[in-house]
Amino acid sequence: MSAIVITGAGSGLGRALALQYSKDYNEIILIGRNHERLQQTKDILQQTRELEVSTYTVNIQNQNEVESLCTSLFTKHDAAALINNAGVGHFGPVTSLSADEISEMLDTNVKGTILLSQAFIKEFQKKGKGKILNIISTAGLRGKVNESVYVASKFAVRGFTESLAKELGGTAITIAGAYMGGMDTPFWDNNDHIKDKSRLKSPEVIAEKIYRLDDGRAEIIVE
Ligand SMILES: NC(=O)c1ccc[n+]([C@@H]2O[C@H](COP(=O)([O-])OP(=O)(O)OC[C@H]3O[C@@H](n4cnc5c(N)ncnc54)[C@H](OP(=O)(O)O)[C@@H]3O)[C@@H](O)[C@H]2O)c1
Repeated sequence: MSAIVITGAGSGLGRALALQYSKDYNEIILIGRNHERLQQTKDILQQTRELEVSTYTVNIQNQNEVESLCTSLFTKHDAAALINNAGVGHFGPVTSLSADEISEMLDTNVKGTILLSQAFIKEFQKKGKGKILNIISTAGLRGKVNESVYVASKFAVRGFTESLAKELGGTAITIAGAYMGGMDTPFWDNNDHIKDKSRLKSPEVIAEKIYRLDDGRAEIIVE
């Protein structure tokens, strides 16, 4: 049974992607730090179609947690694809950001994505195939006022993704990046950077577009 692994699957875009990609995989593996939210996604998925769904609570910033996750994933499941979706943002003038906020963005968005990709690529190389989709943002395409460090983290993921696409070119391991604009998700709950998030697109609409455009292209742009 072939499985897809999705990080940040307890809310927002990750949950919506889990629903879309469950059309193509008979097992879905949900990753995040909050068990209850992952369980809610699991319940929604299993109400939608007959599926094997597993949840793992992991902080992707932590290398030991990522490594033991990957050992379990590749021992217990046939993990064929990874969506690196988990991410955080802190916004405001660069002078207002605390060291903890900067670290959280870089350690989650950049280091977490790198650690998971590295561990999965090692396993995919043994199998001879695999697929990685990195959820980036239009913040990975251009600079934005009061988003400097978040944008820096997303440019980093874009550079990582483009480089891996070249490094893995000619193999059956594919890697793509998805670039989307603002979505109405809990991402904005702890800051006032977006005044009226109800004007943003829904994660369900964006997830459906990503899924539809995910046809082997290296860049999925949904603006
Ligand atoms: N919302 C937007 O406007 C927007 C626009 C473009 C791109 N994006 C990107 O889309 C992705 C999903 O964001 P979203 O809008 O769906 O926001 P969200 O609802 O806040 O989802 C982010 C998810 O990441 C998980 N997460 C955060 N830190 C983690 C960690 N250290 N380890 C494991 N999981 C962690 C969170 O779960 P736990 O707290 O349970 O760990 C949460 O489920 C992010 O990469 C974001 O940068 C968002």
